[in-house]
Amino acid sequence: MKPIRVGLLGLGTVGTGVVRIVEGHQSDLESQVGSPIVIEKVLVQNKNKARSIGVSPEKLTEDVWEIIYNPDIDVIVEVMGGIELTKNYILEALSRGKHIVTANKDLMALHGPEILAKAQEHGCDVLYEASVAGGIPIIRTLVEGFSSDRITKIMGIVNGTTNYILTKMSKEGAAYGDVLKEAQDLGYAESDPTSDVEGLDAARKMTILATLGFRANVALEDVDVKGISSITKEDILYAKRLGYEVKLLGIAERQDDYISVSVQPTMVKLTHPIASVNGVFNAVYVYGEAVGETMFYGAGAGELPTATSVVADLVAVVKNLKLGVNGKQEKLAYKEKKLKTDEQIASKYFMLLHVDDRAGVLARITQAFAEYEVSLESVLQQPNPSIQEAEIIIITHDANKAAAKKVLQALEGMEVVKAIKSVYRVEG
Ligand SMILES: NC(=O)c1ccc[n+]([C@@H]2O[C@H](COP(=O)([O-])OP(=O)(O)OC[C@H]3O[C@@H](n4cnc5c(N)ncnc54)[C@H](OP(=O)(O)O)[C@@H]3O)[C@@H](O)[C@H]2O)c1
Repeated sequence: MKPIRVGLLGLGTVGTGVVRIVEGHQSDLESQVGSPIVIEKVLVQNKNKARSIGVSPEKLTEDVWEIIYNPDIDVIVEVMGGIELTKNYILEALSRGKHIVTANKDLMALHGPEILAKAQEHGCDVLYEASVAGGIPIIRTLVEGFSSDRITKIMGIVNGTTNYILTKMSKEGAAYGDVLKEAQDLGYAESDPTSDVEGLDAARKMTILATLGFRANVALEDVDVKGISSITKEDILYAKRLGYEVKLLGIAERQDDYISVSVQPTMVKLTHPIASVNGVFNAVYVYGEAVGETMFYGAGAGELPTATSVVADLVAVVKNLKLGVNGKQEKLAYKEKKLKTDEQIASKYFMLLHVDDRAGVLARITQAFAEYEVSLESVLQQPNPSIQEAEIIIITHDANKAAAKKVLQALEGMEVVKAIKSVYRVEG
């Protein structure tokens, strides 16, 4: 049977895994799709670099056009990363009828609609399962598994680096800076960790998940993003004392047709399943009107877990080729996007305040909450001799974001409030 020929862009962590799985699982793959899958050409930056996998030198190229213009290549697997240059390669490949599998969340979060439109125009598939939560098949689950339901909430731990840092801070009582340094030494965090720790990587992934889950084109600018770099070990200690873990959560919610998407450090009740997702692992919790609660857990990155998703996409493209249905998938985002205003976004809040340690202060503070109709679930006041002030720890009932902002502004203006030390969304 005629082999399916693949051009691989990139032979780094994920590319190496793709070669290992395509070669190592060849007989299973062939049984499923009815043809051998052959990696015909591999694009690298430097052909002479030492590699952990043996790829015959004549397959390696430093010239991308040798792959894109090669009429024998049916599918291009893009695992080189990058945005603008890579987008141009992919658009050109699509215009030549090549199907695309990519692991590139940056590209799909920023240019997904343009790439998917080009694919439709040319009858091509573009699949990107590995772009979110590496080895967890969450994209296929949202698009196919939940096609019959209406999803109202998606919460994800979709960045392994930040989850590793927060887990270490929680388990060992360590400070943020020390754990970040250790994560960099171990290779879990990049030397420039900004994209991970400031929540941008998670925001890109949430853009993709919210688009697919709510069937409306969510853009990166629609995501309200806050990272983990200002979390202190004291915050984590308080959270634990109250029965919570602090997690960097991507949260996408829908009510009627209105949606909101955010990435923010969140206090998650220990009884919620997502609170026990530790280390570099990822998890995505999905709530559907009909199905109720579901959760998907696994490796969010790494050579073989990520390559599993890439090769599963490759199998899907080849199955479509056999059926002659490439590029005929339903439109993924068919709804108009309507974003919630701050008045429509509701959650519980945790607030830690340092205040003057004298009579009547607590009453003045609770008055500010009452004024903006934010009701309180619990209030704890305790002296803190080390700062000669009192600490007030407040957990609110569900409050809208606009009202919570007004309360914080009012507190900032009070002379008895010495510092608003931390504010977190609360889940569970
Ligand atoms: N690593 C993961 O666990 C993971 C998980 C999910 C998604 N992803 C995504 O998968 C993609 C690849 O990640 P990775 O970790 O495998 O990257 P990587 O280890 O840095 O590998 C990149 C590969 O692409 C080649 N390359 C890069 N730019 C090139 C260019 N301009 N021209 C030609 N070749 C080029 C490099 O060539 P040389 O080898 O010659 O340098 C290298 O082989 C990224 O989009 C990433 O976000 C990664």
